[in-house]
Amino acid sequence: MTPTGQDEIWSALPMPGVLVDAANCITAVTPAGEVFLNVASKALEGRELRSVLRLNVNLADSIARVREGRSALFHRDVQLDRDGQGIILCDLQIAPVSVDPDVMMVLLHPRQIAGKLGRAEHLKSVTKTAIGLADMLAHEIKNPLAGIAGAAQLLAMNLSAQDQEMTDLILQETRRIVALLQQVEQFGDLRPPKLRPINVHDLLERARKSASLGAAAHMRFFDDYDPSLPNSMGDADQLLQVFANLFANAAQAGGDGGRITIRTYFEQGLRLSSGRGDLAVPLQIEVIDDGPGIPEALADSVFDPFVSTRENGTGLGLALVSKIITEHNGTIVLTSKPGRTSFRISLPIAPKNAGETI
Ligand SMILES: Nc1ncnc2c1ncn2[C@@H]1O[C@H](COP(=O)(O)OP(=O)(O)O)[C@@H](O)[C@H]1O
Ligand SMILES: [Mg+2]
Repeated sequence: MTPTGQDEIWSALPMPGVLVDAANCITAVTPAGEVFLNVASKALEGRELRSVLRLNVNLADSIARVREGRSALFHRDVQLDRDGQGIILCDLQIAPVSVDPDVMMVLLHPRQIAGKLGRAEHLKSVTKTAIGLADMLAHEIKNPLAGIAGAAQLLAMNLSAQDQEMTDLILQETRRIVALLQQVEQFGDLRPPKLRPINVHDLLERARKSASLGAAAHMRFFDDYDPSLPNSMGDADQLLQVFANLFANAAQAGGDGGRITIRTYFEQGLRLSSGRGDLAVPLQIEVIDDGPGIPEALADSVFDPFVSTRENGTGLGLALVSKIITEHNGTIVLTSKPGRTSFRISLPIAPKNAGETI
């Protein structure tokens, strides 16, 4: 925590800053720091400063000097290595905080941030922080919910059938909240995919079977597979999740007897340009439904987290899909009009020496 009475000033500081204790572990982060580092303050508190701020100066030495001399230190043009986002030039300020001789304040003045971090990047980092916070909340809410459900079950044992309707309602609603929280957690917890050779048809069939027993029980499935399609590199569990989400969305959009068509085909020319150069993504998987479609105004944002038009939606389904496909070095493209909505996934093929499918 920040020194008493100064919390408001601390939160209002417009630059990334942290307070550290005697062991140089973080005890507080400014909101600007959370956004800058892309991590929620809860996740930063308690961590050693040098594991969070990777600088080309020896932070521990500098902080020790400030502790001894009791006067602030100013480093110009320090290089900060931001996970996956390159190096940023900053000025660094270390200053003692009067209430406790061991507490030190470390402030960063990013020098390139305005130029480098455009609006899109800024939005991305704010979203990332929001997801971090939502994930943390999800963890916190699940425990008391389990308590509520348990208590309702105990209560139900001594109640008349009529009163049990009430405890059933409590259980039903807690289950619904748990399901929502699981989606949030899943989004926050997503690990990098373990890429192995996979047969997309096997996965599509598995996902289709489980959807037709659950979320898409009222839908009719059709397939149009290219049996000669080569293997892709993928994480089977994550791709199953992708297909399940697309089927669930199609089913939620479609009425009874609505159609879901799964198409696979090979398209040689498709390439994905990324920082690492051009990559061929010739393997195509299309999930098409005949529902009302996605309004044009929404089409640009459906892959963003928390965008949903459904009453009980989290808006995380397609965000998860897009995150997983991107991490598979693939792309996903939406085209939609009333009566035909298609999500087309393009994936690379497995190299010849990649081994057997699992
Ligand atoms: N196949 C579809 N047909 C019509 N609308 C869709 C379809 N798939 C997604 N959407 C729209 O995109 C929104 C976001 O989907 P998603 O990210 O899965 O979140 P959620 O399902 O929780 O709402 C949905 O609320 C819906 O409005
Ligand atoms: Mg969904």
